[in-house]
Amino acid sequence: MPRLHVNIDHVATVRQARKAQQPDPVFAAGLCELAGANGITAHLREDRRHIQDRDIRLLREVVKTLFNLEMAYTPEMIKLAHEIRPDQVCLVPEKREELTTEGGLDLHSMPDSFAGDIKALQDNGIDVSLFIDPDPNLIEAAAGADAAFIELHTGAYANAKGKQRENELKRLTTAAIYAHELGLRVNAGHGLDYDNVMAIAQIPFIEELNIGYSIIGRAVYVGLDQAVREMQDRVLAASPLEE
Ligand code: PXP
Repeated sequence: MPRLHVNIDHVATVRQARKAQQPDPVFAAGLCELAGANGITAHLREDRRHIQDRDIRLLREVVKTLFNLEMAYTPEMIKLAHEIRPDQVCLVPEKREELTTEGGLDLHSMPDSFAGDIKALQDNGIDVSLFIDPDPNLIEAAAGADAAFIELHTGAYANAKGKQRENELKRLTTAAIYAHELGLRVNAGHGLDYDNVMAIAQIPFIEELNIGYSIIGRAVYVGLDQAVREMQDRVLAASPLEE
């Protein structure tokens, strides 16, 4: 059964709309944990549009479950990760104009320093996860770079309908099994909501689901505690397929 990691970026989006002090994503992280979240995820974007450096430092101190820092592969972020030492770093591609992370990492065009930087992070006690599309060549490249985890990009599945959604689900399942065979640990996320999460939670070998937008959006109506509990209930209710 995968663990639920709540991405709290959009609590900070609301705060930054007024450049004020509330709502505080650090406080929200505590509420998510009290509601049963198994981990907290935050993305420190280069343009600091939502999460700020101060949030990351405080989250490292207060998160009691597992703190996953999403970030771009840049010298600034690598340096910060070594300093903050989150439990896990998820490397994602980042474009200034995008509303959210659009695609996975293109592991075929990484600089020579990539595998060494992954090793240095992991030697510093930080698990590295690579956010990639469910493509066998990318999974092989992730295994070649010796990352502990991949995070499978579920966005194409979330956006697809009907037959195409079934195909995307098959791609994700095949990818999770292949990654496991190659010795990688597997997470998944992006675009998951209360309706589409159960099929993903049933995929074998997926350890963590990173879910943000749908939970924070629902929290506006029902409160954060209930929004997290409702998602956790769905994840727990999904009976695993044969591994
Ligand atoms: N996983 C990764 C790597 C992401 O970049 C994001 C978005 O920040 C998520 C998961 C969560 O996506 P969503 O907000 O659509 O649930």
